[in-house]
Amino acid sequence: METMDQAGSTGSTASVQVASWALRISALATLVIGLELWSGGGGGALVPVHMVLGIVAIIAAWSLGIMQLRRPGGSRGLALGALVLGVLLPIAGVGQLSFFGGSGQLVAQLVHVVLAFAIIGMGEACAGRLRRAQPATAR
Ligand code: HEM
Repeated sequence: METMDQAGSTGSTASVQVASWALRISALATLVIGLELWSGGGGGALVPVHMVLGIVAIIAAWSLGIMQLRRPGGSRGLALGALVLGVLLPIAGVGQLSFFGGSGQLVAQLVHVVLAFAIIGMGEACAGRLRRAQPATAR
């Protein structure tokens, strides 16, 4: 039987599911708001909401990265990838606010979106590993 300590360090079924759904829901909401911002909507009021939801997605991806790392055979690459992307994503997001038009802004937007999709994919890959490591009844 899994003790509280094991559940905390390696990720119980419930904590994997919570982190996995937190990633999906926050990432989807962040993306929808991001597209609204991109199309010029929201008048800037949605930017802090977008940032907070984006940070929730990053924390969820980090949690999944750490949980899968602590399992036997966990991937350091996935955990490190999630960590690095989670640091770069807000830098790229906030960094693009200092561009005022031109091709530089387009590149900054593209970099931000690519990093966002990369961390979502990385988090999903970590969740997939964790689910595969659990008994079928616990999925
Ligand atoms: C799952 C995570 C995220 C997704 C899917 C996402 C997606 C997007 C999209 C589609 C845009 C509009 C296109 C663009 O300007 O690049 C955008 C803009 C932006 N994002 Fe994110 N983002 C995420 C996380 C974050 C985080 C963590 C931060 C900062 C803490 C952030 C800050 C910003 C800012 C400041 C803008 C520009 C808003 C503006 O131009 O007024 N984003 N994001």
